[in-house]
Amino acid sequence: MQSIVSISNLSKTYAGGHQALKDVNLDIAPGEILALLGPNGAGKTTLISIICGIVKASSGSVTVAGHDIVTDYRSTRSMIGLVPQELTLGAFDTVWNTLSFSRGLFGKKPDPGYLEQLLRDLSLWGKKDSELMTLSGGMKRRVLIGKALSHEPAVLFLDEPTAGVDVELRKDMWALVRRLRESGVTIILTTHYIEEAEAIADRVGVINNGELLLVDDKQALMHKLGKRQLIMELEEAVGALPDSLSPWSLDLSADGGRLTYTYDPHTAHTGISGLLQAIREADLVLKDLKTTQSSLEEIFVNLVKGN
Ligand SMILES: Nc1ncnc2c1ncn2[C@@H]1O[C@H](COP(=O)(O)OP(=O)(O)O)[C@@H](O)[C@H]1O
Ligand SMILES: [Mg+2]
Repeated sequence: MQSIVSISNLSKTYAGGHQALKDVNLDIAPGEILALLGPNGAGKTTLISIICGIVKASSGSVTVAGHDIVTDYRSTRSMIGLVPQELTLGAFDTVWNTLSFSRGLFGKKPDPGYLEQLLRDLSLWGKKDSELMTLSGGMKRRVLIGKALSHEPAVLFLDEPTAGVDVELRKDMWALVRRLRESGVTIILTTHYIEEAEAIADRVGVINNGELLLVDDKQALMHKLGKRQLIMELEEAVGALPDSLSPWSLDLSADGGRLTYTYDPHTAHTGISGLLQAIREADLVLKDLKTTQSSLEEIFVNLVKGN
């Protein structure tokens, strides 16, 4: 399938000499949700800003639906909706006017039916005549999304959509993003929250120091890099591990009260039943037992540290 956004050898050095992007290559498929995950200063906003034509690349190229973002700026910009990192809205405009004005800026004919459906999808229809300053923070964010979608773009960029947002609102936002995708919009969001990428993305790109370290299907990423741990609390602490347990390379906690076994859950022989039997034979009594799946969090932290 043809990419909706195609980024080739993209680099950016700012005037001060800071290299914010280093040879980024990325293809985005129509209809997917891609999360660009990276710490502050990684280059996420720079990347989005280049695609949207706000920042000029130093080298490399980007196409949107096959059109070059520099030589064909007007057409690519009209295919893109951008929700910026900072809340930027007038105070006295109404919700309805904000959306219809923004649509007009892109040279689109008025379409009250489309805007009504959009406001309903965003749960803002009841607020269409409210002035923006009267809205809560969460509603303002949704107005920004409405504004970005007012001209019916094929691709929506959300730059840190839930930064500083409380947990409830964050979940609402995730649900909203999924609904938008069902309507056919391709969504690229940036985030420094791992759980956000884990919760909504189809694919995750990890970006650090201007480099795109990897891009992969979320499930594949977890599958490839995720390990599982079996954590066993002992009834009585031990000073050292019995030799009979050496085949399992266990970690013993400093206080001697906890054993941790790290294994790959995808191999046929995890060795767990043998381990439990050996523990019993060594006369160790378990008080409690649980498993944890190493999350995208650990994978991410390891990647960024390794870099
Ligand atoms: N206009 C600018 N001029 C100079 N440096 C910039 C500018 N904008 C961003 N940077 C620098 O580029 C790097 C990447 O910034 P940014 O793309 O905003 O990262 P992120 O969005 O991932 O936090 C940072 O080190 C930042 O300080
Ligand atoms: Mg940013």
